[in-house]
Amino acid sequence: MLIAGNWKMFKGPGETASFCAALLEELDGEPGVDIVVAPAFVSLHAAVAELEGGPVRVYAQSVHWEEEGAFTGEVSRSMLIASGATGAIVGHSERRQYFCETDETTALRAAAALEGGLSVIACVGETLDEREAGETEAVLRRQVEAIAAAVPEPPAGLAVAYEPVWAIGTGVTATPETAQEAHAFVRGLYPVELVLYGGSVKPENAEELLTKPDVDGALVGGASLDVVSFTEICRTAARLSRS
Ligand code: PGA
Repeated sequence: MLIAGNWKMFKGPGETASFCAALLEELDGEPGVDIVVAPAFVSLHAAVAELEGGPVRVYAQSVHWEEEGAFTGEVSRSMLIASGATGAIVGHSERRQYFCETDETTALRAAAALEGGLSVIACVGETLDEREAGETEAVLRRQVEAIAAAVPEPPAGLAVAYEPVWAIGTGVTATPETAQEAHAFVRGLYPVELVLYGGSVKPENAEELLTKPDVDGALVGGASLDVVSFTEICRTAARLSRS
């Protein structure tokens, strides 16, 4: 089970340091659960300084596929490794929606990060229009197959996050049945070890989602910004992975 907090464009270095210190105090080891936080690039160092050697890993929110070059605003895998990050999220729907990220660039980022030894959470998911038009499976197939083409044998460090766009930041969560159906579909396309669910995961709905057989963890946005709610989700995951 993997619980990852995607902080998006929240928390600079100061807030990151105090959050991470508080998180370590709250956690009791949470056996059976891998815990990740993904701060903004500028806050990676602060997170690593607090969390190094402990149970919580630090991921970036994106990574470029080239080692270096004239790519303003981008960060390479070796830069991330040098700052102590051990993984990266790629292809988040906000990157796809607002920053022209495509299936191809998502796949390039995923493949380069994995090759460089980083873990990856690669995001897929349909919009509301696509779901209402009955295109969910076609969209997931296209997105997952792009990743599979670049990374034919999914390594242990790769997780796919199913994040229906209509559930992100809206307070509307996919029902556990809808999530399960999409996760099973993704897994049928691509034998990845972990399929995470993302989209308005909170302490109140974490259990019903995480008990579904193909839901192997969560990518948490809003609820990961608060130490208490994030810890509660991690504890739920730990309890479920013991039972
Ligand atoms: P949310 O975000 O939990 O705030 O819906 C999830 C995500 O975007 O990864």
